[in-house]
Amino acid sequence: MSVKIAPSVLSCDFANIQRDVEMINNSAADYFHIDIMDGVFVPNISFGFPVMKAISKHATKPLDVHLMIQNPDQYIEQFKDAGAEILTVHYEACPHLHRTIQAIKDAGMKAGVALNPHTYVDLLEDVIEELDLALIMSVNPGFGGQKFIKNSIWKVEQLHNLIQKRGSHALIEVDGGVNGDNAKSLIKAGADMLVAGSYVFNSESPTETIEALKRT
Ligand code: DX5
Ligand code: ZN
Repeated sequence: MSVKIAPSVLSCDFANIQRDVEMINNSAADYFHIDIMDGVFVPNISFGFPVMKAISKHATKPLDVHLMIQNPDQYIEQFKDAGAEILTVHYEACPHLHRTIQAIKDAGMKAGVALNPHTYVDLLEDVIEELDLALIMSVNPGFGGQKFIKNSIWKVEQLHNLIQKRGSHALIEVDGGVNGDNAKSLIKAGADMLVAGSYVFNSESPTETIEALKRT
């Protein structure tokens, strides 16, 4: 099966958001990657429900929502209402992770957990069977356009082994600094889904860049 591509809307032109959403609709992309930042868990603020709902209104592909927020539990229903199909929380932001995962699934979404670059993959062992997705951060979360951390390839391999060992159906997503130079190694290591922001939106032809990533 070919790798799934989730362009990150964080890198789009917010003054032309509908145009960029249509570009993704008409491309080989599989998802919209939506980055929500609270200025507490990460040192940046992105956007909230009104913008997400505007994207959802025009998007014809599912929304893969990445929450970089502290204690996300209180907003789970609102993310469902705003159109999330996959809701990913950070391991580092959830003191009662098992409960949070159940709440996401009870709300009718797929549940994901993201790991910061310093977080050991095996910490997911006791929840991996519950997950639809596990996300390896290949940059420190908070900003688009950062440099890919090479150790992430090793982490994808570790995660792949853990998923096999525990018979989990979780997909492996990689987010941060993904480009044409590292996509192949990530897929070889076991990545099922690649997020790409600046690499897509800063390219001459975003549609062709998505297509090329998809064909990796
Ligand atoms: C970073 C976000 C990413 C970001 C990726 O904190 O989670 O999704 O938009 O952007 P690039 O691909 O430019 O690193
Ligand atoms: Zn993200």
